[in-house]
Amino acid sequence: MAVTRTFSIIKPDATRRNLTGAVTKMLEEAGLRVVASKRIQMTKDQAEGFYAVHKERPFFGELVDFMISGPVVVQVLEGEDAVKRNRDVMGATNPADADEGTIRKTYAESIEANSVHGSDSDENAKIEIDYFFDENEIVG
Ligand code: CMP
Repeated sequence: MAVTRTFSIIKPDATRRNLTGAVTKMLEEAGLRVVASKRIQMTKDQAEGFYAVHKERPFFGELVDFMISGPVVVQVLEGEDAVKRNRDVMGATNPADADEGTIRKTYAESIEANSVHGSDSDENAKIEIDYFFDENEIVG
């Protein structure tokens, strides 16, 4: 299995509850290595651009407002089959549907305040990593 990269966001509901370390620990225990990380306050433009694929969805405005409601931690994660590995440890988008032992089952408050984002494909991982990081900020 190839070592690949994925992109992760620890969302405002998790940073507000001081869960950055707890979430990162679960990512690391799942076999992912944090090769870049920064805590940022997203601007509205940044959040709208990041979630542009969802702009026709009814929840788009609320999603953007939520993502700028506090700091987030954006991360690049590296590991074998990183996209799938990360999605497995995150659990389903809606915490009510997430498996026991996943980040969202453990920490998420709702489908919107669901503690983490993770890329859904290798192609989107590259786009999302490039959206927030310069290559020289990523140290494997
Ligand atoms: P994320 O993986 O960051 O991608 C889009 C986000 O939209 C998703 O996680 C949820 O936090 C949020 N969202 C809010 N409402 C919904 C919904 N009804 N269906 C899917 N995603 C939703």
